[in-house]
Amino acid sequence: MKKLLIAAITLLSLGANANEVALLQNVFAHESLLLNGDWHYIVDVQEEGYYDYRMNLNRWGFFQNAKPQRPEDLIEYDFDKAATMRVPGDWCTQDQRLFFYEGTVWYKTSFQAAVPVEDYRTLLYFGAVNYDAHVYLNGKHVGHHVGGFTPFNYDVTDLLRNGENVLIVKVDNKRHKDHVPTQIFDWWNYGGITRDVMLVRVPPVYIEDYSLQLEKSRDAKAKGPHTLAFSLKLNQKKAGEKVTLTIPELKLKQQFTTDDQGCVSATLKAKKLQLWSPANPKLYQVQIATDRDFTGDSIGFRTIETRGKQILLNGQPIFLKGVSVHEEKPNGGGRANGTEDAHTLLTWAKDMGCNFVRLAHYPHNEWMVREAERMGIMVWSEIPCYWTISWTNPETYANAQRQLTDMISRDHNRANVIIWSIANETPHSAERDQFLGSLAKYARTLDNTRLISMAMEVTSASNYKNRLQDNMHEYVDVVSFNQYIGWYRDVNDAPKMQWEVPYDKPVIVSEFGGGAKYGLHGAKNQRWTEEFQENLYKENTAMLDKIEGLSGTTPWVLKDFRSPRRVLDGIQDYYNRKGLYSDKGEKKKAFYVMKKWYESK
Ligand code: GCU
Repeated sequence: MKKLLIAAITLLSLGANANEVALLQNVFAHESLLLNGDWHYIVDVQEEGYYDYRMNLNRWGFFQNAKPQRPEDLIEYDFDKAATMRVPGDWCTQDQRLFFYEGTVWYKTSFQAAVPVEDYRTLLYFGAVNYDAHVYLNGKHVGHHVGGFTPFNYDVTDLLRNGENVLIVKVDNKRHKDHVPTQIFDWWNYGGITRDVMLVRVPPVYIEDYSLQLEKSRDAKAKGPHTLAFSLKLNQKKAGEKVTLTIPELKLKQQFTTDDQGCVSATLKAKKLQLWSPANPKLYQVQIATDRDFTGDSIGFRTIETRGKQILLNGQPIFLKGVSVHEEKPNGGGRANGTEDAHTLLTWAKDMGCNFVRLAHYPHNEWMVREAERMGIMVWSEIPCYWTISWTNPETYANAQRQLTDMISRDHNRANVIIWSIANETPHSAERDQFLGSLAKYARTLDNTRLISMAMEVTSASNYKNRLQDNMHEYVDVVSFNQYIGWYRDVNDAPKMQWEVPYDKPVIVSEFGGGAKYGLHGAKNQRWTEEFQENLYKENTAMLDKIEGLSGTTPWVLKDFRSPRRVLDGIQDYYNRKGLYSDKGEKKKAFYVMKKWYESK
């Protein structure tokens, strides 16, 4: 855990973000002012509010929120006259003019603050902003963040003023080859402030991060108390700080003292501990207190490991009955956020018999992960190293590593998160192996208690023999691959197919499937009919049963989702139609094939 924080801090210093501080663990448990709501916005296609006509940074940019002082003053923008849209949310589904828009939008909100409040600090937290965000408070540049799916926070104590405060965010979702993800991807590039924004009050010395989980590798048959591993880090290297950990239900209350790094690292015994599992998603109320700070969390305890080709949860082999999911509301509603959206999507997955979801292809919001934990659903969480990333660009690597760090920082206390995935469908090359190999090794330094994987691919068979061959097998705990027999290749040949996965590791088929337009019926060899998709699933599931060491599957995909790459009129209409549900939650025939197959697992 310490390495996690050191890594985070190093990365932080990379960006010129003087106000940026390490990610605050369990932010929703802190006293906070939610800044969600209707924010004014200005669409700025040519970034008139950021550059002057010579493309130099414009000191009088929109971040100044300037107002004419005298009648002759020329100010050519006014946020308070501008329209508003909901934050969190994407702009594509809130303003029809912006459905396809990729560029800059300025957001503005204001809030009242009474400062200073004794010696407390105030952090400004964003759950996520897609993609490139410049944050300004009262006209001052607070920080710059890139990456559309991970949280970030700034200490803005010294920028706050008494009374009205003006927060302005320049958001740009333009795609670029050196970004992560790169310039092409098969999902909608929802731009905007897509997750919660809040002001968080913390004491000068606060609990920056902590980790509490079952110590690894205890023989399943072992009796007696379990051992919990506890560690904590203050935001300052303060020694001698008293830390009290309490788990009332376990009658556990223990005190620790921080070392000269402001850290605690200890183990403690827990009697009669119920382990977290899909059948019993047991969570314990945990309280952690210092002299001036307090945080409460719901934490589950479990072990996850592999043994040969098996995945073991709490020492027992388990089959991951999964489905791949995009972070998108049903009914064309844009980026999902919040418990309600999560519950809807996860209930659809559970109805299919799932105990596992692959959250593709980027870290989903925290509500999704926590709701899955409450519902007993295990999670694969992934960073968007998707398709052909700029493997040799050091900035691209730093960006990917930062997203990996923040994904793990945010969710490392979630018992249901069992797999960190570092990539999807990446082309083989030495540069790619170098890039991803480093990321995989790095992930282990941040968290050596979970499994590392990535979605490899098998795109062809020779003489009906499919063989997975990927150098990255060395770096992962679980070898996962995508295959599209019956859709992108070898239609109706699944029954003849053989598989060879020459690695002594568990296998997950992380994508398979095909498209169907809900309600379109016809012959089973007629593309886009439900019958075609149903038949494809029947043939694929029978074929998958033949794969030695198969420990899980996450068919592509839970529901139809928007993609700018899907342009077939009358069928796709900018939707990827590979859902087992339509976008409205209507079950397609293939759904029942998967449900039946999972009942057999
Ligand atoms: C790929 C990719 C997905 C994509 C899917 C498809 O495998 O990983 O993001 O949507 O195939 O083609 O539908």
